[in-house]
Amino acid sequence: MSDQTQGKAGVSRRDFLGLASVGAVILSSLTAVAGMLRIPKPNVLYEESQKFKIGKPDNFPVGTVKKLDDKKVFIFADSDGIHAISSICTHLGCIVYTTEWGFQCPCHGSKYNRTGKVIAGPAPRNLAWLDISQSMDGTLVVDAAKEVKPGTTFKV
Ligand code: FES
Repeated sequence: MSDQTQGKAGVSRRDFLGLASVGAVILSSLTAVAGMLRIPKPNVLYEESQKFKIGKPDNFPVGTVKKLDDKKVFIFADSDGIHAISSICTHLGCIVYTTEWGFQCPCHGSKYNRTGKVIAGPAPRNLAWLDISQSMDGTLVVDAAKEVKPGTTFKV
């Protein structure tokens, strides 16, 4: 049997192997090019920043409490400064509301005192205090991704 043996379709073994090797080279080259084209696009999922502006300090006179529903946070201003407490219940994520003694969750009845400490209910953790900073233009910025120690206030 020689390399020039013709198959039933009329293609010799040498021609078939030659075409197969050319096809393999083309396929591997295309795969390499496709891989190189993906290099500039990293496999990283960018999350939206959880920082948001809440306005100038003048918008928060001493003694005020503002609930920012869309941001799920309470902003408190007292003589010590301004602080932000998350309104997201630590049990299953319902939105708490304020009471004269602190916060209450409408879903399963968790209760938190005025500093967000759990005093009743199934909530496993205290409400989160969130970082407040000031941007270059003087606007206050809350970072919902950055918890701070309870009692931490932004001094105005
Ligand atoms: S979600 Fe608040 S107590 Fe269950």
